[in-house]
Amino acid sequence: LCVLAAPAEAQTYPTRSITMIVPFAAGGPTDVVARIVTAHMAQTLGQSIIIENVVGAGGTTATTRAARAANDGYTLIAGHMGTHAASVPLYPKLAYHPEKDFEPVALLAGTPILILARKDFPPKDLREFVTYVKANAEKVNAAHVGSVSHASCELLHSILDIKPVGVPFNGTGPAMNALVAGQVDYMCDQIVNAVPQINAGTIKAYAIATAERNPSLPSVPTTAEAGLPAFQAQAWNAMFAPKGTSPAIVASLNAAAIKALDDETVRKRLLELGSVIPGPKDRTPEALATLVKNEIAKWSPVLKPAT
Ligand code: MLT
Repeated sequence: LCVLAAPAEAQTYPTRSITMIVPFAAGGPTDVVARIVTAHMAQTLGQSIIIENVVGAGGTTATTRAARAANDGYTLIAGHMGTHAASVPLYPKLAYHPEKDFEPVALLAGTPILILARKDFPPKDLREFVTYVKANAEKVNAAHVGSVSHASCELLHSILDIKPVGVPFNGTGPAMNALVAGQVDYMCDQIVNAVPQINAGTIKAYAIATAERNPSLPSVPTTAEAGLPAFQAQAWNAMFAPKGTSPAIVASLNAAAIKALDDETVRKRLLELGSVIPGPKDRTPEALATLVKNEIAKWSPVLKPAT
């Protein structure tokens, strides 16, 4: 009988609202994906999920807070390729370890990276962009957040062998506003943030850094088609709980996340924004743990400390 009985906490969890920390500004890609998925999860779990945007230090301030939070299932973090992989080489004094201090819960979305520019940035296409930024590397600037946007453009800059000025923001939501307003020249950003602005014609998209074009942006060429095949980058959004959160709670959150990813309205919204919805084998906590390990190994040799 004992083996059949589930732990009491899993039978009752959650009994109150859950906080999901988003480590970047509201309105950016991490925030948007987290809000779409948690709105559905809250229905499944029968409790509200409150989004708390905590900005600073490329998402590492919030992620440190989440690592130190009570491991009772009531504080979660919307981590991503930046906070849970690129942060390791970018921030040598990182106060948490993505693998040791968290329980992976679920992968929520893959988010291809695009090279974007203000509408009146002179280059017309990616070939011209490459020539222009190489010739004007002292003058041009790139918006970034010290996380995915930074890591992606660092990869681009290392391929082009240039070191333009970086303009820091606390999220690519505000960075996108600056791009639309023409206050910064270009940025490497996740598709979720870019689709609405590209469709509204308020910014330029030179290329998407994936092998295939994205159905949400059929006219945007791949980097290979546009002449820069070496630049390949896709980020991902996920959900983590502090280390030691019980397996039963992690399982219940994972099941609610999967239910959200299978919901027609949630899928439609994520796909409209260009996200790649994880397939069945990528949805387990174990698969997310492997992704984190592989992504740390992938980005560590590529990135230098951000400071
Ligand atoms: C955001 O949500 O603002 C972005 O994910 C930040 C980034 O990693 O560049």
